[in-house]
Amino acid sequence: MRPELWIPGPTQVRDELLGVMAAPMMGHRSAEMRALIHGLDPHLEAVFGVSGPSHRVAVHSCTATGLMEMALRAAGPRVLCLVHGAFSERFATIAEALGKEVERIESPLGASPDLAAARQRLKEHRFDAVTVCLSETSTGVAVSPAEVAAALSERGAASLLVDAVTYLGAAAIDASEHGLDFVFAGTQKALALPPGLGLYAVSEAMLERAAASTERGFFLDLLRITEAHADARPPMTPTISLHRALLRQFEDVAAGAVEAGLTDEAPSALSGLDGWQRRYRRHARMRDLTGAFLAERGLAPLGGGVASPSVTCAALGSLNVTALLGAMGARGFELAPGYGSLRESTIRIGHMGDHSVEGLRRLLVALGDELDLV
Ligand SMILES: Cc1ncc(COP(=O)(O)O)c(C=O)c1O
Repeated sequence: MRPELWIPGPTQVRDELLGVMAAPMMGHRSAEMRALIHGLDPHLEAVFGVSGPSHRVAVHSCTATGLMEMALRAAGPRVLCLVHGAFSERFATIAEALGKEVERIESPLGASPDLAAARQRLKEHRFDAVTVCLSETSTGVAVSPAEVAAALSERGAASLLVDAVTYLGAAAIDASEHGLDFVFAGTQKALALPPGLGLYAVSEAMLERAAASTERGFFLDLLRITEAHADARPPMTPTISLHRALLRQFEDVAAGAVEAGLTDEAPSALSGLDGWQRRYRRHARMRDLTGAFLAERGLAPLGGGVASPSVTCAALGSLNVTALLGAMGARGFELAPGYGSLRESTIRIGHMGDHSVEGLRRLLVALGDELDLV
């Protein structure tokens, strides 16, 4: 038996969805495929908070890193990057690889992105894009879309590019209300599907500005892919199985069918909430339970930032991370070591996707037992 995956993605995938993915192939130019692609749109609008004509939604058969590059290719040369961990750094690295003029605003690992400094810099200098990560998977630190939008509202013609990879599906996003120009995620995190399909919402304003870019390429051309999605005719063979599983997951979450078995809250506490709101509430509950467990043990989540709804990074001091993860694996729970320079000193728990509150409690009991042994 493989241990249950509690790493910060990919995460555990329900058997029903694996079953959907095993269905026979169909032609990607078929009416069935086109209906499938169109069927995703209302759900994408719900999960990205797109209402009205200011934004469009789409999917692309690549992982989130591809979407980072797609957004940067569509933007002009001057890029301001808020960096507070390995994944927010990735935006800057890709921008440099594309030959952009990159300026970083760096915060220490575990801290929140420095929005005040970015706000100031945006007043002083013209940028074409500003990048920010809502949930920094390497440190477990989150920032809300509302906070980002409020701090960076005066940015001239700079497009606001927002990494929601471990945020989407775990907490609410309102791309239209907050004027996020490009916000994106992949399938393997809080949506609890295998990796391989990128999802995004993009503003009409950014699409207009993208028309001036000569670096959009082909496979990662924001305009080509967005238009092709609207027409349900992707310009390459799409990941058909993942599209099917995504639609099924969207339908099940929206109908409340997934959440019913995953929380420990009384149905009365949840009345009036739709399926997505229930999902966000369960993620907040899992985050809080994990934080409380660490606090009880005198262990702290890394840094002082706001905790991510889907990933906790725990600073373990001098404890042996490899031994602890090995022991947890033997108990049936796969956790992740820290990322990059944090590898030896932290562990990460991905409490995301279709994991239940009950399952998390079992994990924390096992983790507590192991910590008692050291
Ligand atoms: C915050 C964040 N951004 C970007 C990525 C890159 O996503 P992918 O590996 O799907 O390309 C990840 C992956 O873990 C991530 O956590």
